[in-house]
Amino acid sequence: MKNIVLYKSKYGNTLQYATWLSETLGYELRDFKDFKKREIKNYQTIIFGSGVYMGKMNKLKKVLKWFNEKPIIIFACAGNLNVEKDIEEIKKANFTLEQLKYHHFFYLPGGVDFTKLKGLMKSMVKFFINMIEKKQDKTPDEIAILDGYKHPSHYVDKKYIEKIVNYVQTTKQS
Ligand SMILES: Cc1cc2nc3c(=O)[nH]c(=O)nc-3n(C[C@H](O)[C@H](O)[C@H](O)COP(=O)(O)O)c2cc1C
Repeated sequence: MKNIVLYKSKYGNTLQYATWLSETLGYELRDFKDFKKREIKNYQTIIFGSGVYMGKMNKLKKVLKWFNEKPIIIFACAGNLNVEKDIEEIKKANFTLEQLKYHHFFYLPGGVDFTKLKGLMKSMVKFFINMIEKKQDKTPDEIAILDGYKHPSHYVDKKYIEKIVNYVQTTKQS
């Protein structure tokens, strides 16, 4: 049986982690858009990772639907550096408790660089930032968003895949 790392990545952070995982574990690597539901039966271990946008993991709805009879490893790659509160929010906004028990979830720190945005997304973010800037009493989260907008961050590091690699190896799924 084969094993595969599937990813959905807009700006490359998830792709970088997916690539390291595939190289380290010797798994096939594929963009989720090129994967067909009928192929699930061909794979023993499946890892799926995607970026988090406005609280939601990219393509996760479809993934959870497709893999409701096969537990997989799922990782979110988002803007923060292992902030427990944010990780809990990502779990809550994207999974039911049953789904979290069924699949195995990991968080990998990505980073944010708003200078890379293009088109509609760029206009939407600008609009949102202007709204926050005009607010008198900003919440700590809003202050953090403004800070992230002005100062790009990049936390992507190969060391963070270790917990997934260890999990795969100890559960003998490789
Ligand atoms: C418009 C926009 C919205 C974002 N929303 C969130 C968010 O709600 N929570 C979060 O933790 N990170 C958020 N991020 C950060 C991304 O999740 C992070 O950059 C991630 O590494 C992107 O992965 P990708 O490049 O593989 O798509 C956002 C980034 C952008 C550009």
